[in-house]
Amino acid sequence: MSERSCLAIILAAGEGTRMKSALSKVLHPVGGLPMVAHVVRAATAAGVGDVALVVGRGAEEVEKAARPHANRVSVHLQAQRLGTGNAVLAAASAIAKGFDDLIIMFGDTPMIDTAALMSARERLACGADVVVMGFRPSDPTGYGRLLEKDGQVIAIREEKEASPDEKKIGFCNGGLMAIRGDDALVMLNKITNNNAKKEYYLTDIVEIAHALGKSVVSLEVDAGSVLGVNTRVELAEVESLFQNKMRKSMMLDGVAMIAPETVFFSWDTEIGAETIIEPNVFFGTKVRVSGGATIHAFCHIEGATIATGAHIGPFARLRPGADLREDSKAGNFVEIKKSVISKGAKVNHLTYVGDAEVGENANIGAGTITCNYDGYNKFITKIGAGAFIGSNSALVAPVSIGSGAIVAAGSVITKDVPDDAVAFGRALQENRLKIAPAIRSRNKALKEKNSAK
Ligand code: UD1
Ligand code: MG
Repeated sequence: MSERSCLAIILAAGEGTRMKSALSKVLHPVGGLPMVAHVVRAATAAGVGDVALVVGRGAEEVEKAARPHANRVSVHLQAQRLGTGNAVLAAASAIAKGFDDLIIMFGDTPMIDTAALMSARERLACGADVVVMGFRPSDPTGYGRLLEKDGQVIAIREEKEASPDEKKIGFCNGGLMAIRGDDALVMLNKITNNNAKKEYYLTDIVEIAHALGKSVVSLEVDAGSVLGVNTRVELAEVESLFQNKMRKSMMLDGVAMIAPETVFFSWDTEIGAETIIEPNVFFGTKVRVSGGATIHAFCHIEGATIATGAHIGPFARLRPGADLREDSKAGNFVEIKKSVISKGAKVNHLTYVGDAEVGENANIGAGTITCNYDGYNKFITKIGAGAFIGSNSALVAPVSIGSGAIVAAGSVITKDVPDDAVAFGRALQENRLKIAPAIRSRNKALKEKNSAK
Protein backbone atom coordinates (compact mmCIF):
# COMPACT_ATOMS: atom_id res chain seq x y z
CA MET A 1 0.00 0.00 0.00
CA SER A 2 2.83 2.40 0.87
CA GLU A 3 3.70 2.98 -2.79
CA ARG A 4 0.38 4.87 -3.21
CA SER A 5 0.45 8.38 -1.78
CA CYS A 6 -2.56 9.38 0.27
CA LEU A 7 -4.10 12.56 1.64
CA ALA A 8 -6.70 12.38 4.39
CA ILE A 9 -9.07 15.34 4.44
CA ILE A 10 -10.60 15.64 7.87
CA LEU A 11 -13.71 17.77 8.08
CA ALA A 12 -13.89 19.60 11.36
CA ALA A 13 -15.57 22.88 10.56
CA GLY A 14 -18.84 22.08 12.28
CA GLU A 15 -19.94 24.55 14.94
CA GLY A 16 -20.69 21.81 17.41
CA THR A 17 -23.36 23.99 19.03
CA ARG A 18 -25.18 20.99 20.48
CA MET A 19 -22.18 20.20 22.67
CA LYS A 20 -22.98 23.45 24.55
CA SER A 21 -19.29 23.97 25.11
CA ALA A 22 -16.67 26.65 24.61
CA LEU A 23 -14.34 23.89 23.44
CA SER A 24 -14.43 23.12 19.73
CA LYS A 25 -16.36 19.86 19.24
CA VAL A 26 -13.52 17.83 17.73
CA LEU A 27 -11.30 18.69 20.72
CA HIS A 28 -13.54 16.93 23.19
CA PRO A 29 -11.62 13.91 24.44
CA VAL A 30 -12.32 10.21 24.13
CA GLY A 31 -10.02 8.12 26.29
CA GLY A 32 -8.14 11.31 27.16
CA LEU A 33 -7.36 12.18 23.52
CA PRO A 34 -9.18 14.79 21.41
CA MET A 35 -11.57 13.18 18.91
CA VAL A 36 -9.78 14.71 15.95
CA ALA A 37 -6.51 13.11 17.08
CA HIS A 38 -8.16 9.68 17.08
CA VAL A 39 -9.21 10.28 13.48
CA VAL A 40 -5.70 11.40 12.51
CA ARG A 41 -4.14 8.37 14.24
CA ALA A 42 -6.43 5.98 12.37
CA ALA A 43 -5.44 7.65 9.09
CA THR A 44 -1.73 7.53 9.87
CA ALA A 45 -1.98 3.88 10.87
CA ALA A 46 -3.62 3.20 7.49
CA GLY A 47 -0.53 4.56 5.75
CA VAL A 48 -1.74 8.12 5.16
CA GLY A 49 1.22 10.51 4.92
CA ASP A 50 -0.57 13.83 4.65
CA VAL A 51 -3.51 15.24 6.55
CA ALA A 52 -5.54 18.29 5.54
CA LEU A 53 -7.66 19.61 8.38
CA VAL A 54 -10.69 21.66 7.43
CA VAL A 55 -11.62 23.87 10.34
CA GLY A 56 -14.07 26.63 11.08
CA ARG A 57 -12.98 27.76 14.49
CA GLY A 58 -10.23 26.98 16.95
CA ALA A 59 -7.84 26.32 14.04
CA GLU A 60 -4.71 26.58 16.16
CA GLU A 61 -5.94 24.25 18.88
CA VAL A 62 -7.23 21.71 16.38
CA GLU A 63 -3.89 21.76 14.57
CA LYS A 64 -2.03 21.38 17.86
CA ALA A 65 -4.13 18.33 18.76
CA ALA A 66 -3.63 16.72 15.35
CA ARG A 67 -0.02 17.48 14.53
CA PRO A 68 1.75 14.95 16.81
CA HIS A 69 -0.21 12.11 15.21
CA ALA A 70 0.51 12.67 11.53
CA ASN A 71 3.56 12.97 9.31
CA ARG A 72 2.42 16.20 7.69
CA VAL A 73 -0.57 18.41 8.54
CA SER A 74 -2.00 21.38 6.65
CA VAL A 75 -4.86 23.48 7.97
CA HIS A 76 -7.59 24.96 5.78
CA LEU A 77 -10.23 27.40 6.89
CA GLN A 78 -13.76 26.89 5.61
CA ALA A 79 -15.07 30.44 5.83
CA GLN A 80 -18.75 29.52 5.65
CA ARG A 81 -20.34 26.21 6.49
CA LEU A 82 -21.83 25.54 3.07
CA GLY A 83 -21.86 21.74 3.23
CA THR A 84 -19.51 18.78 3.15
CA GLY A 85 -18.71 19.20 -0.57
CA ASN A 86 -17.70 22.80 0.02
CA ALA A 87 -15.68 21.76 3.08
CA VAL A 88 -13.61 19.30 1.06
CA LEU A 89 -12.91 21.99 -1.51
CA ALA A 90 -11.51 24.21 1.25
CA ALA A 91 -8.56 21.81 1.06
CA ALA A 92 -8.30 22.17 -2.76
CA SER A 93 -4.72 23.42 -2.52
CA ALA A 94 -3.70 20.24 -0.72
CA ILE A 95 -5.62 18.03 -3.16
CA ALA A 96 -3.98 19.86 -6.08
CA LYS A 97 -0.56 18.63 -4.97
CA GLY A 98 -1.60 15.34 -6.52
CA PHE A 99 -2.16 12.21 -4.43
CA ASP A 100 -3.00 8.72 -5.59
CA ASP A 101 -5.68 8.36 -2.91
CA LEU A 102 -7.87 10.78 -0.99
CA ILE A 103 -9.70 9.74 2.14
CA ILE A 104 -12.40 11.99 3.47
CA MET A 105 -13.09 11.64 7.15
CA PHE A 106 -15.13 13.46 9.78
CA GLY A 107 -13.38 14.94 12.81
CA ASP A 108 -16.29 13.99 15.05
CA THR A 109 -16.23 10.28 14.16
CA PRO A 110 -13.37 9.02 16.33
CA MET A 111 -14.04 5.29 16.36
CA ILE A 112 -13.19 4.75 12.71
CA ASP A 113 -10.83 1.82 12.51
CA THR A 114 -7.66 1.50 10.58
CA ALA A 115 -8.64 -1.82 9.02
CA ALA A 116 -11.67 -0.20 7.33
CA LEU A 117 -9.52 2.61 5.95
CA MET A 118 -7.00 0.11 4.65
CA SER A 119 -9.73 -1.93 2.95
CA ALA A 120 -11.02 1.25 1.31
CA ARG A 121 -7.54 2.05 0.01
CA GLU A 122 -7.17 -1.51 -1.24
CA ARG A 123 -10.33 -1.10 -3.29
CA LEU A 124 -8.88 2.04 -4.88
CA ALA A 125 -5.66 0.16 -5.59
CA CYS A 126 -7.75 -2.56 -7.25
CA GLY A 127 -9.46 -0.12 -9.62
CA ALA A 128 -12.40 1.49 -7.81
CA ASP A 129 -12.64 5.25 -8.28
CA VAL A 130 -14.80 6.02 -5.25
CA VAL A 131 -15.36 3.89 -2.15
CA VAL A 132 -18.24 4.78 0.17
CA MET A 133 -18.27 3.40 3.69
CA GLY A 134 -21.76 2.10 4.31
CA PHE A 135 -23.36 0.82 7.48
CA ARG A 136 -26.71 -0.43 8.68
CA PRO A 137 -27.95 1.68 11.61
CA SER A 138 -30.86 0.43 13.69
CA ASP A 139 -32.72 3.57 12.56
CA PRO A 140 -31.62 5.01 9.20
CA THR A 141 -33.52 8.30 9.62
CA GLY A 142 -31.28 11.27 8.92
CA TYR A 143 -28.58 9.39 7.04
CA GLY A 144 -27.87 9.42 3.33
CA ARG A 145 -29.12 6.16 1.71
CA LEU A 146 -26.91 4.20 -0.65
CA LEU A 147 -28.64 3.43 -3.95
CA GLU A 148 -26.96 0.42 -5.53
CA LYS A 149 -27.24 -1.31 -8.89
CA ASP A 150 -25.17 -4.15 -10.31
CA GLY A 151 -22.63 -3.99 -7.50
CA GLN A 152 -22.13 -0.25 -7.99
CA VAL A 153 -23.32 2.64 -5.84
CA ILE A 154 -25.15 4.89 -8.26
CA ALA A 155 -26.20 7.65 -5.86
CA ILE A 156 -26.40 8.68 -2.24
CA ARG A 157 -29.76 10.17 -1.42
CA GLU A 158 -29.84 12.52 1.55
CA GLU A 159 -32.86 12.21 3.86
CA LYS A 160 -34.41 15.48 2.70
CA GLU A 161 -34.42 14.44 -0.96
CA ALA A 162 -35.23 10.75 -0.52
CA SER A 163 -38.48 9.32 -1.89
CA PRO A 164 -40.63 7.14 0.42
CA ASP A 165 -39.20 4.03 -1.26
CA GLU A 166 -35.62 5.26 -0.91
CA LYS A 167 -36.25 6.01 2.75
CA LYS A 168 -36.91 2.29 3.27
CA ILE A 169 -33.28 1.50 2.38
CA GLY A 170 -31.36 0.45 5.49
CA PHE A 171 -27.86 0.67 4.01
CA CYS A 172 -26.58 4.18 4.81
CA ASN A 173 -23.64 6.45 4.18
CA GLY A 174 -21.24 6.36 7.12
CA GLY A 175 -19.78 9.62 5.85
CA LEU A 176 -16.32 8.40 5.05
CA MET A 177 -15.18 8.13 1.47
CA ALA A 178 -12.07 7.18 -0.42
CA ILE A 179 -11.57 8.76 -3.84
CA ARG A 180 -8.89 8.31 -6.46
CA GLY A 181 -6.86 11.50 -6.46
CA ASP A 182 -6.49 12.14 -10.22
CA ASP A 183 -10.01 13.29 -11.13
CA ALA A 184 -11.17 14.24 -7.65
CA LEU A 185 -10.96 18.02 -8.05
CA VAL A 186 -12.82 17.92 -11.36
CA MET A 187 -15.63 15.93 -9.76
CA LEU A 188 -15.71 18.00 -6.56
CA ASN A 189 -16.03 21.18 -8.59
CA LYS A 190 -19.13 19.80 -10.30
CA ILE A 191 -21.04 19.61 -7.01
CA THR A 192 -23.81 22.22 -6.78
CA ASN A 193 -26.10 23.32 -3.98
CA ASN A 194 -29.24 22.61 -5.93
CA ASN A 195 -31.07 20.70 -3.18
CA ALA A 196 -33.48 21.07 -0.26
CA LYS A 197 -30.83 22.32 2.16
CA LYS A 198 -29.07 24.58 -0.37
CA GLU A 199 -25.86 22.87 0.68
CA TYR A 200 -22.98 21.48 -1.34
CA TYR A 201 -23.35 17.76 -0.64
CA LEU A 202 -20.15 15.74 -0.90
CA THR A 203 -22.39 12.76 -1.48
CA ASP A 204 -23.30 14.13 -4.94
CA ILE A 205 -19.86 13.02 -6.06
CA VAL A 206 -21.28 9.51 -6.40
CA GLU A 207 -23.73 10.44 -9.15
CA ILE A 208 -21.11 12.63 -10.81
CA ALA A 209 -18.58 9.78 -10.83
CA HIS A 210 -21.20 7.32 -12.06
CA ALA A 211 -22.15 9.65 -14.93
CA LEU A 212 -18.48 9.79 -15.92
CA GLY A 213 -18.47 5.99 -16.14
CA LYS A 214 -16.36 5.58 -13.02
CA SER A 215 -16.58 2.72 -10.58
CA VAL A 216 -18.20 3.54 -7.21
CA VAL A 217 -18.38 0.74 -4.65
CA SER A 218 -19.49 0.44 -1.06
CA LEU A 219 -17.61 -1.01 1.84
CA GLU A 220 -19.70 -2.13 4.78
CA VAL A 221 -18.37 -1.17 8.21
CA ASP A 222 -19.97 -1.68 11.59
CA ALA A 223 -22.20 1.04 12.96
CA GLY A 224 -19.98 1.73 15.98
CA SER A 225 -17.01 2.71 13.84
CA VAL A 226 -18.92 5.51 12.08
CA LEU A 227 -20.80 6.80 15.10
CA GLY A 228 -20.62 10.59 14.97
CA VAL A 229 -20.67 12.84 18.01
CA ASN A 230 -23.03 15.80 18.11
CA THR A 231 -24.00 15.94 21.77
CA ARG A 232 -22.43 15.01 25.05
CA VAL A 233 -24.76 12.00 25.13
CA GLU A 234 -23.16 10.66 21.95
CA LEU A 235 -19.74 11.57 23.31
CA ALA A 236 -20.43 9.32 26.31
CA GLU A 237 -21.63 6.55 23.95
CA VAL A 238 -18.44 6.77 21.95
CA GLU A 239 -16.40 6.81 25.17
CA SER A 240 -18.13 3.64 26.23
CA LEU A 241 -17.37 1.97 22.88
CA PHE A 242 -13.76 3.08 23.18
CA GLN A 243 -13.45 1.74 26.73
CA ASN A 244 -14.90 -1.63 25.72
CA LYS A 245 -12.44 -1.85 22.88
CA MET A 246 -9.52 -1.05 25.20
CA ARG A 247 -10.67 -3.55 27.84
CA LYS A 248 -11.00 -6.27 25.27
CA SER A 249 -7.61 -5.65 23.74
CA MET A 250 -5.97 -5.46 27.21
CA MET A 251 -7.50 -8.79 28.21
CA LEU A 252 -6.51 -10.41 24.93
CA ASP A 253 -2.97 -9.18 25.65
CA GLY A 254 -2.97 -10.99 28.99
CA VAL A 255 -4.12 -8.34 31.47
CA ALA A 256 -6.47 -9.74 34.13
CA MET A 257 -9.55 -7.82 35.19
CA ILE A 258 -12.21 -9.04 37.56
CA ALA A 259 -14.76 -6.41 36.54
CA PRO A 260 -13.50 -4.89 33.29
CA GLU A 261 -16.59 -2.71 32.97
CA THR A 262 -15.39 -0.71 35.98
CA VAL A 263 -11.85 -0.09 34.72
CA PHE A 264 -11.17 2.99 32.57
CA PHE A 265 -8.20 3.46 30.30
CA SER A 266 -6.68 6.27 28.30
CA TRP A 267 -5.72 5.93 24.65
CA ASP A 268 -2.05 5.53 25.54
CA THR A 269 -2.28 3.25 28.60
CA GLU A 270 0.27 0.45 28.37
CA ILE A 271 -0.06 -2.60 30.59
CA GLY A 272 1.98 -5.79 30.45
CA ALA A 273 0.64 -9.32 30.57
CA GLU A 274 -0.21 -10.95 33.90
CA THR A 275 -0.92 -7.66 35.59
CA ILE A 276 -4.05 -7.91 37.71
CA ILE A 277 -6.44 -4.98 37.90
CA GLU A 278 -9.11 -5.11 40.55
CA PRO A 279 -12.43 -3.26 40.12
CA ASN A 280 -12.88 0.52 39.89
CA VAL A 281 -9.56 1.75 38.64
CA PHE A 282 -9.04 4.84 36.46
CA PHE A 283 -6.01 5.25 34.23
CA GLY A 284 -5.37 8.83 33.10
CA THR A 285 -2.92 9.49 30.29
CA LYS A 286 0.73 8.46 30.16
CA VAL A 287 0.60 5.38 32.37
CA ARG A 288 2.93 2.44 31.81
CA VAL A 289 2.56 -0.72 33.84
CA SER A 290 4.93 -3.65 33.36
CA GLY A 291 3.66 -7.20 33.43
CA GLY A 292 2.98 -8.89 36.73
CA ALA A 293 1.97 -5.86 38.78
CA THR A 294 -1.18 -5.69 40.91
CA ILE A 295 -3.49 -2.70 40.93
CA HIS A 296 -5.92 -3.16 43.79
CA ALA A 297 -9.41 -1.68 43.77
CA PHE A 298 -10.25 2.05 43.64
CA CYS A 299 -7.05 3.60 42.34
CA HIS A 300 -6.62 6.79 40.31
CA ILE A 301 -3.43 6.67 38.27
CA GLU A 302 -2.03 9.18 35.77
CA GLY A 303 1.42 9.81 34.34
CA ALA A 304 2.87 6.98 36.42
CA THR A 305 5.22 4.08 35.76
CA ILE A 306 4.65 0.84 37.62
CA ALA A 307 7.10 -2.05 37.54
CA THR A 308 6.72 -5.79 37.84
CA GLY A 309 5.70 -7.06 41.26
CA ALA A 310 4.56 -3.65 42.47
CA HIS A 311 1.31 -3.45 44.45
CA ILE A 312 -0.78 -0.31 44.17
CA GLY A 313 -3.77 0.47 46.36
CA PRO A 314 -6.46 -0.19 47.25
CA PHE A 315 -7.40 3.50 47.20
CA ALA A 316 -4.08 4.85 45.97
CA ARG A 317 -3.54 7.97 43.90
CA LEU A 318 -0.52 8.04 41.63
CA ARG A 319 0.12 11.38 39.99
CA PRO A 320 2.46 12.34 37.14
CA GLY A 321 6.04 11.27 37.69
CA ALA A 322 5.26 8.54 40.22
CA ASP A 323 7.78 5.82 39.43
CA LEU A 324 7.09 2.62 41.32
CA ARG A 325 9.96 0.19 40.83
CA GLU A 326 9.98 -3.62 41.16
CA ASP A 327 8.16 -5.06 44.15
CA SER A 328 7.49 -1.65 45.67
CA LYS A 329 4.21 -0.80 47.30
CA ALA A 330 1.88 2.19 47.51
CA GLY A 331 -0.95 1.19 49.79
CA ASN A 332 -4.28 2.60 50.86
CA PHE A 333 -4.83 6.36 50.93
CA VAL A 334 -1.34 7.00 49.63
CA GLU A 335 -0.65 9.81 47.16
CA ILE A 336 2.59 9.81 45.20
CA LYS A 337 3.74 12.55 42.85
CA LYS A 338 7.01 12.92 40.90
CA SER A 339 8.89 10.45 43.08
CA VAL A 340 10.88 7.30 42.63
CA ILE A 341 9.89 4.51 44.98
CA SER A 342 12.81 2.13 44.54
CA LYS A 343 12.77 -1.62 44.47
CA GLY A 344 11.10 -3.22 47.48
CA ALA A 345 10.32 0.12 49.17
CA LYS A 346 6.98 0.33 50.93
CA VAL A 347 4.65 3.25 51.42
CA ASN A 348 1.79 1.37 52.94
CA HIS A 349 -0.74 3.75 54.42
CA LEU A 350 -2.07 7.31 54.57
CA THR A 351 0.94 9.08 53.18
CA TYR A 352 1.93 11.86 50.77
CA VAL A 353 5.21 11.47 48.93
CA GLY A 354 6.00 14.29 46.48
CA ASP A 355 9.28 15.28 44.79
CA ALA A 356 11.11 12.50 46.57
CA GLU A 357 13.58 9.70 46.00
CA VAL A 358 12.90 6.73 48.20
CA GLY A 359 15.72 4.17 48.34
CA GLU A 360 15.47 0.41 48.01
CA ASN A 361 13.60 -1.41 50.76
CA ALA A 362 12.91 1.78 52.70
CA ASN A 363 9.76 1.70 54.81
CA ILE A 364 7.61 4.79 55.08
CA GLY A 365 5.31 4.66 58.08
CA ALA A 366 1.64 5.57 58.11
CA GLY A 367 0.85 9.26 58.00
CA THR A 368 4.22 10.40 56.69
CA ILE A 369 4.18 13.65 54.74
CA THR A 370 6.95 15.03 52.56
CA CYS A 371 6.50 18.78 53.02
CA ASN A 372 7.71 19.66 49.54
CA TYR A 373 6.11 23.06 49.01
CA ASP A 374 6.58 26.40 50.73
CA GLY A 375 3.72 28.07 48.93
CA TYR A 376 6.03 29.16 46.09
CA ASN A 377 8.71 26.55 45.47
CA LYS A 378 9.05 22.79 45.43
CA PHE A 379 11.87 20.99 47.23
CA ILE A 380 13.26 17.48 47.16
CA THR A 381 13.26 14.83 49.88
CA LYS A 382 15.79 12.01 49.71
CA ILE A 383 15.33 8.86 51.70
CA GLY A 384 18.18 6.33 51.63
CA ALA A 385 17.99 2.61 51.09
CA GLY A 386 16.64 0.66 54.04
CA ALA A 387 15.63 3.79 55.96
CA PHE A 388 12.64 3.55 58.30
CA ILE A 389 10.38 6.56 58.67
CA GLY A 390 8.23 6.33 61.78
CA SER A 391 4.53 7.02 61.53
CA ASN A 392 3.16 10.53 61.39
CA SER A 393 6.44 12.17 60.46
CA ALA A 394 6.75 15.40 58.53
CA LEU A 395 9.87 15.56 56.38
CA VAL A 396 10.41 19.23 55.60
CA ALA A 397 12.18 19.47 52.24
CA PRO A 398 14.85 20.02 51.16
CA VAL A 399 16.00 17.27 53.45
CA SER A 400 17.71 13.94 53.19
CA ILE A 401 17.46 10.86 55.35
CA GLY A 402 20.52 8.63 55.20
CA SER A 403 20.42 4.99 54.30
CA GLY A 404 19.60 2.71 57.19
CA ALA A 405 18.51 5.70 59.28
CA ILE A 406 15.46 5.65 61.53
CA VAL A 407 13.14 8.57 62.04
CA ALA A 408 11.19 8.35 65.28
CA ALA A 409 7.42 8.39 64.93
CA GLY A 410 5.83 11.82 65.12
CA SER A 411 8.99 13.64 64.10
CA VAL A 412 9.23 16.90 62.22
CA ILE A 413 12.51 16.54 60.35
CA THR A 414 14.11 19.77 59.19
CA LYS A 415 17.77 18.76 59.19
CA ASP A 416 19.50 16.01 57.22
CA VAL A 417 19.78 12.68 59.03
CA PRO A 418 23.10 10.82 58.57
CA ASP A 419 23.25 7.16 57.53
CA ASP A 420 22.27 4.74 60.31
CA ALA A 421 21.36 7.56 62.72
CA VAL A 422 18.13 7.69 64.71
CA ALA A 423 16.45 11.09 64.49
CA PHE A 424 14.03 12.33 67.14
CA GLY A 425 12.30 15.39 65.83
CA ARG A 426 9.81 15.69 68.65
CA ALA A 427 9.63 16.67 72.31
CA LEU A 428 10.96 13.91 74.52
CA GLN A 429 8.35 12.11 76.55
CA GLU A 430 8.23 12.72 80.31
CA ASN A 431 6.19 10.52 82.68
CA ARG A 432 5.01 12.21 85.92
CA LEU A 433 4.08 9.35 88.16
CA LYS A 434 0.74 8.99 89.99
CA ILE A 435 -0.55 12.51 89.40
CA ALA A 436 -3.49 11.54 87.11
CA PRO A 437 -6.03 11.24 90.00
CA ALA A 438 -5.23 14.76 91.22
CA ILE A 439 -5.77 16.15 87.71
CA ARG A 440 -9.06 14.29 87.40
CA SER A 441 -10.33 15.71 90.76
CA ARG A 442 -9.36 19.20 89.73
CA ASN A 443 -11.20 18.91 86.41
CA LYS A 444 -14.28 17.37 88.02
CA ALA A 445 -14.47 20.22 90.58
CA LEU A 446 -14.24 22.80 87.80
CA LYS A 447 -17.11 21.15 85.91
CA GLU A 448 -19.32 21.11 89.04
CA LYS A 449 -18.56 24.75 89.77
CA ASN A 450 -19.49 25.75 86.19
CA SER A 451 -22.77 23.79 86.12
CA ALA A 452 -23.84 25.31 89.47
CA LYS A 453 -23.77 28.79 87.95
C1 UD1 B 1 -23.41 13.42 6.32
C2 UD1 B 1 -23.68 12.82 4.94
C3 UD1 B 1 -24.71 11.68 5.08
C4 UD1 B 1 -24.21 10.64 6.03
C5 UD1 B 1 -23.86 11.28 7.38
C6 UD1 B 1 -23.17 10.26 8.25
C7 UD1 B 1 -23.42 14.65 3.39
C8 UD1 B 1 -24.12 15.63 2.51
N1 UD1 B 1 -24.20 13.84 4.09
O1 UD1 B 1 -24.62 14.02 6.74
O2 UD1 B 1 -24.91 11.08 3.79
O3 UD1 B 1 -25.17 9.63 6.19
O4 UD1 B 1 -22.96 12.39 7.19
O5 UD1 B 1 -23.01 10.78 9.53
O6 UD1 B 1 -22.21 14.61 3.37
N2 UD1 B 1 -18.73 19.78 7.91
C9 UD1 B 1 -17.87 20.80 7.64
N3 UD1 B 1 -18.30 21.86 6.89
C10 UD1 B 1 -19.54 21.92 6.38
C11 UD1 B 1 -20.42 20.87 6.66
C12 UD1 B 1 -20.00 19.81 7.43
O7 UD1 B 1 -16.73 20.77 8.08
O8 UD1 B 1 -19.84 22.90 5.70
C13 UD1 B 1 -18.29 18.65 8.72
C14 UD1 B 1 -19.02 18.54 10.04
O9 UD1 B 1 -18.31 19.21 11.06
C15 UD1 B 1 -19.04 17.05 10.27
C16 UD1 B 1 -19.06 16.46 8.88
O10 UD1 B 1 -18.59 17.47 8.02
O11 UD1 B 1 -17.88 16.60 10.92
C17 UD1 B 1 -20.44 15.97 8.44
O12 UD1 B 1 -21.34 17.03 8.43
P1 UD1 B 1 -22.82 16.88 8.96
O13 UD1 B 1 -23.49 18.19 8.87
O14 UD1 B 1 -22.82 16.17 10.26
O15 UD1 B 1 -23.44 15.92 7.84
P2 UD1 B 1 -24.73 15.02 8.01
O16 UD1 B 1 -25.91 15.86 7.76
O17 UD1 B 1 -24.67 14.25 9.26
MG1 MG C 1 -23.61 14.39 11.09
